Amino acid sequence: MENQSFMQRLLSVFRSGPTDKDIAAQLRKPSGKMALQVANKMNESNAGLYNFVLDHMDILNSQVIMEIGCANGKFLEKIHAKARDVQVYGLDYSPEMFAEAKRLNRQKLDAGGLGLYLGSSEAIPLASGIVDQAFCINVVYFWEAPVDHLREIHRVLKPGGRFYAAVRTPETLGKMPFTRYGFKSYEPEQWKKVVEANNFRFTNSWAFTEPDLEIKGEKIPMKSYCFEAVKL
Ligand SMILES: C[S@@+](CC[C@H](N)C(=O)[O-])C[C@H]1O[C@@H](n2cnc3c(N)ncnc32)[C@H](O)[C@@H]1O
Repeated sequence: MENQSFMQRLLSVFRSGPTDKDIAAQLRKPSGKMALQVANKMNESNAGLYNFVLDHMDILNSQVIMEIGCANGKFLEKIHAKARDVQVYGLDYSPEMFAEAKRLNRQKLDAGGLGLYLGSSEAIPLASGIVDQAFCINVVYFWEAPVDHLREIHRVLKPGGRFYAAVRTPETLGKMPFTRYGFKSYEPEQWKKVVEANNFRFTNSWAFTEPDLEIKGEKIPMKSYCFEAVKL
């Protein structure tokens, strides 16, 4: 090692590839050189889950829809395609994702009907009581204290507004090596308790299964669910 030149040592870092810890950190908040690549990978692996959630949301004409953790905003156009005159807000706390979401959705931003925000769901930069439906996909794993996020989501929702969260199941997450670095997993019944302690009624939960995914030679069952909670 001591005989290696600086350049050889630098190259070996890049050759070794990201560790599970790096992957976990990127999924929590895509950043730096890997951010766009990570976002593209997420787009590939999560497209089915997006379709599943948006199909269950029953989006109506002229509704206001907010996505928390929209990453590069690749699927925001799917929300607009669900009904007429829908106002969409996308929120993400990664500056890299915010910039890329603006780039990918430039037309819609210029035409109106879309607002993008850099910020966290603990402090949503929107007025109170204006959102019909809020949703997030693969985000709640990273909430240290769900109460802080649910309070804000409750605040921006209209009376009777709905919140949807979709996640991989604890069984599936448990087989993904990177999830040991800071991912929290819950069964739907656990979410029921959490949301009902925070002024929501837990109204539904739907299971979603996709073909197994292979990670490092191991087949991972791809089981997810989405729950629905109504603002009280
Ligand atoms: C695992 S990625 C999921 C991205 C996308 N929803 C998907 O399923 O493909 C999590 C995304 O949520 C963002 N995020 C995580 N916690 C957040 C928070 N508290 N507020 C806003 N964005 C958050 C991250 O920056 C990242 O873009």
